[in-house]
Amino acid sequence: MAAADNTVAGRLALITGASGGIGRACAIELWGEGASLALTYNRNKAAVDELVQLLTKDGSHAAQKISTHQVDMASADGLTSMMANVEEQHGRTPDILIPNAGYGKRIPMINDIPLDEFDYTLTVNLRSAFILAKGCIPGMTERKWGRIVFISSISGQGGGINGCHYAASKAGMTGMMKNLARKHAADGITVNDVAPAMIGDTGMIPDAKYVAGTPGDVKNIPVGRLGTPQEVANVVMMLCKTGYMTGQSILLSGGLQ
Ligand SMILES: NC(=O)c1ccc[n+]([C@@H]2O[C@H](COP(=O)([O-])OP(=O)(O)OC[C@H]3O[C@@H](n4cnc5c(N)ncnc54)[C@H](OP(=O)(O)O)[C@@H]3O)[C@@H](O)[C@H]2O)c1
Repeated sequence: MAAADNTVAGRLALITGASGGIGRACAIELWGEGASLALTYNRNKAAVDELVQLLTKDGSHAAQKISTHQVDMASADGLTSMMANVEEQHGRTPDILIPNAGYGKRIPMINDIPLDEFDYTLTVNLRSAFILAKGCIPGMTERKWGRIVFISSISGQGGGINGCHYAASKAGMTGMMKNLARKHAADGITVNDVAPAMIGDTGMIPDAKYVAGTPGDVKNIPVGRLGTPQEVANVVMMLCKTGYMTGQSILLSGGLQ
């Protein structure tokens, strides 16, 4: 019988969208726990540079390494060469994968959603997560240890304020998660997703004022406030440290359904 191994220190975590609110919080959390990091950004290099500066400024993490990578989630070739570059820089493929980078133009009603917007949203959110998981699972299988935590959304469960294009891309992640969880559990790989709603301090929901008077109004959230990126990172870390939990989609929504 395999012993429980929930050690995060010394592992390599690949976090996409580390230039955004949730990715940044996950990076800080995993770094604090002793993981090395491969962080991606698309347009906002300054945010990821500032994050690296923050993490390395006291020089007390000598055993850990950070690399940063520009990549567009819509580019399959870009994702493949990013993963090769991660392996080159760290001498290994990731043990922990957090497919977090995401996009969702707010178009609530199906009649207003152009076909190319549907295709693009699925490409950025879902196809990229498939490419990333496909690239990381062989190394995880070889080492008999892996953690994959997709950042999905309440929309994948039918809630949220966006349209069906975004919902489909996130529900697809949950379906893929459940399949991968079953197929790879025996190899020490857990696969779960965190489904947030209304997380502030992010590009998606910059602050409470942004949603006042809309279907996303804070008044409609049962706990009476937006969630924080740190609260998403808390759940991500719990999943990284809990190898007995796999195949789960965890709604993190302040009580919204
Ligand atoms: N905030 C919420 O309430 C909420 C709720 C449910 C789900 N989520 C999910 O949480 C994840 C993180 O979002 P966030 O809330 O932290 O928002 P955010 O601050 O806007 O971060 C989005 C991140 O995704 C990256 N990204 C977007 N399009 C990309 C592309 N084509 N290629 C590569 N990277 C791309 C951005 O990179 P650059 O900025 O460098 O371009 C940024 O790092 C997303 O998947 C989102 O769907 C958020």
